[in-house]
Amino acid sequence: MKTPFFYDITLRDGNQSLKKPWQLNEKQFIFEKLHDLNIQAVEVGFPASSHMDFEACRTLADMAWDNLVVSALARTVKSDIDAVINSIGHAKNPRVHTFLTLSPFHMKYVLNKEPDYCAQKAIEAVEYAYEKIRQVNKNAQVQFSVEHFGDCAENIDFVIDTLKKIVSAGASIINLPNTVERTRPATFINLIERVKNALGDDVIISLHNHNDLGMATATTVEGYFAGAVQLECCINGLGERAGNTDFAQVAVALHNNGVKVPVNLEKIYETSMIISQMARVKIYEKAPLIGPEALAHRSGIHQDGAIKTKDMDFGAYRPIKPTLIGRDDDEKIGFTSQSGKTAVFEIINNAGYPITIEEAVRLTPIVKEISEQKGELGTDEILSVYRKEILDVKGAFEFISFKLVAGNKFKLCFKFKGELKEVEGSGNGPLDACLDALKNAGFPRKLSFYKQYALDEDKMGSGASAMSVIHLVGKDMEEIIGRAIDQNTARANVKAIFNALNQVYK
Ligand code: KIV
Ligand code: ZN
Repeated sequence: MKTPFFYDITLRDGNQSLKKPWQLNEKQFIFEKLHDLNIQAVEVGFPASSHMDFEACRTLADMAWDNLVVSALARTVKSDIDAVINSIGHAKNPRVHTFLTLSPFHMKYVLNKEPDYCAQKAIEAVEYAYEKIRQVNKNAQVQFSVEHFGDCAENIDFVIDTLKKIVSAGASIINLPNTVERTRPATFINLIERVKNALGDDVIISLHNHNDLGMATATTVEGYFAGAVQLECCINGLGERAGNTDFAQVAVALHNNGVKVPVNLEKIYETSMIISQMARVKIYEKAPLIGPEALAHRSGIHQDGAIKTKDMDFGAYRPIKPTLIGRDDDEKIGFTSQSGKTAVFEIINNAGYPITIEEAVRLTPIVKEISEQKGELGTDEILSVYRKEILDVKGAFEFISFKLVAGNKFKLCFKFKGELKEVEGSGNGPLDACLDALKNAGFPRKLSFYKQYALDEDKMGSGASAMSVIHLVGKDMEEIIGRAIDQNTARANVKAIFNALNQVYK
């Protein structure tokens, strides 16, 4: 397979569809972004359309990087072709892109011209463009587009015959646009294959698919595998009506299917965000690859698979690793009534609070019930359930105070089933001393695990700066887990002990 050649049409087809087409400085900025992406060819504009676009084409041709093909659009009229040559002819690799329809419908109802007239006009325009631009630049090329090629099934032999003459007149690239997408990709590709076989390998076949039925990416990708090498795409699928073929989708689809794609994939996400802002065209939430929701999982089954494979190149429920296109946000786990324990575990854990999977199982029906009424729950709402059910669990104990009385002696004051108790204990620090005091009060427990976490920010809004997690075992060797948060680290430890005890003494 030949390496795909990406021909960007954001600045022409994309631009012509905007509510406010770009000014020169905006086109310059976007051109630099296309450079960062390492696009092979850029159609910089339609210089005959306005003085501003002529100037933009001229300036971008000056800015072109080595090896870039700079192209501009012209109807099959001499003044348009002259405008292209005058604006971009001085680029290192300029290309005149001229077009005319050969579709029976369009020739009859829009142009009101006979097919032979159109064929002749196209051939003459290519001849003129080739001769004129070659005088300016020996590297120059001419591209011819059969506008509405997708509507040419019934006269395909006439189209092929005309294209052979157009190639002889100097066009080395034949672009076959699906100007309005009406047919199945397979039907369209069948037409492409017929042209390709008739013109031979020396002619570059190009695709320019509009997305009226939402199949432009599929047609372009399959068209590449059918032998089309030049792929005309727009960033974010901008373009007339439902847009043109989306660049990111094609580049990534080819990459995923083993094709060496000669662009900087990791620049895709950033470029898409910039173009969306500059075009004032929002990215659809569910837009493949770049949409804000394109990496979100809400069903419990998907969340489970996504989390189990999150560090792998191949994800259970995603087409790429987000970093491939420079996305630095991970797969999003959103909690709704459709979600499950893995999501509860992940959301609480990611917020910086320790939780076991057993506890997540216990919390899941509670948060699900809330979500049934409210829809997706934010992290803070899930944390408030965590706080209520795990940190503030009510039981027979009520911690009141704990203070150092002398040396390593501490006094612990608490209530058990409403009865006030004051006991002393000693030990190597408050944690030890508290357990000793509890033993003296008739509640012996041994510490089997202890960890204290600093909370940069308490997402539950209590202002606490530390969280203690302790595991205690009793005579029966059953382990209980206690957790507490507090501004004071020693008090967090003591409260965590009571939190554990309250789980057994109800
Ligand atoms: O959609 C189309 O046919 C075009 C041509 C000018 C290539 O944009
Ligand atoms: Zn188009």
